[in-house]
Amino acid sequence: MSHISTIGISAKRQASGQADVLTLADTSPEAAAIEIDHCIKKFRLGSGPEMTALADVSLKIRSGEFVAIIGPSGCGKSTVLRLIASLEQPTSGHVSIKGNSPSELADQHRLGVAFQDHALLPWLTTEQNIALPYRLAGKKTDHDRVKDLIRLIGLAGFEKARPKQMSGGMRQRVSIARALVLKPEVLLLDEPFGALDAVTRRQMNIELQRTWTELRTTTLLVTHSVDEALFLADRIFVMTGRPGRVLQEVSVPFARPRTPEIMRSEEFHRLVDSLTLALEPHGAPQ
Ligand SMILES: Nc1ncnc2c1ncn2[C@@H]1O[C@H](COP(=O)(O)OP(=O)(O)O)[C@@H](O)[C@H]1O
Ligand SMILES: [Mg+2]
Repeated sequence: MSHISTIGISAKRQASGQADVLTLADTSPEAAAIEIDHCIKKFRLGSGPEMTALADVSLKIRSGEFVAIIGPSGCGKSTVLRLIASLEQPTSGHVSIKGNSPSELADQHRLGVAFQDHALLPWLTTEQNIALPYRLAGKKTDHDRVKDLIRLIGLAGFEKARPKQMSGGMRQRVSIARALVLKPEVLLLDEPFGALDAVTRRQMNIELQRTWTELRTTTLLVTHSVDEALFLADRIFVMTGRPGRVLQEVSVPFARPRTPEIMRSEEFHRLVDSLTLALEPHGAPQ
């Protein structure tokens, strides 16, 4: 048993000889909204040798769940997210979302994605940026939905503001609202707050929790912040690299709604320490 498994991990070590893969006890297919099944991803740069970015990654995310992936830079976190977003194809293995392929979901605008770079169009206002996916999908804009989201992300009064008139945190909130506007079944967030200062980032974490609590969209957050993952997620997958693989799976024990006070609790600090240890090059003692 790892150090972490004594303080809240709900995973069982697979008995199948995959020594460092941990899976949940409840892995019934009905429960899985997203399933990554033995995915390997190799990249080749130019005519150079092949590089294995992901080595046999398997994980399941349940409907309505908030899952975080943490791991050191370059371990393949974004690659996992990009497989789900259908921005990359696995070299081998299979990805399914509610029984569909990621490309089917993407084509049907059932996936919402936000990255560290907010990618807002500078000449559009907050409400126009949030409404953009309607235009791209050839759908009629639901102005009530746009208004509701602006309220939900706390930007009422900034409907007509352009990105350069807003702070970095506000721009990221607009980017997340845009990812949510078509009511996606899955929200994929890749380091959305990575470029923000620590105080703003914490505020954004609180706001994201509030938004998620209201919408309960199945969410995958890729982050290198242990604090952020612990504050927001129901479960955390710890990846190690390279090649990237899932080292551990941790169930976060804090009840919801979570207040910033939990970040000052002894249990929070204990989990931060354990997860940080697991991220170090040789990981936690097994
Ligand atoms: N399109 C690509 N072409 C070549 N190599 C890539 C590509 N995307 C990612 N990689 C490589 O795969 C590895 C994992 O990348 P990534 O998933 O972005 O890691 P992380 O998000 O954990 O920092 C890195 O070594 C990266 O350089
Ligand atoms: Mg990344």
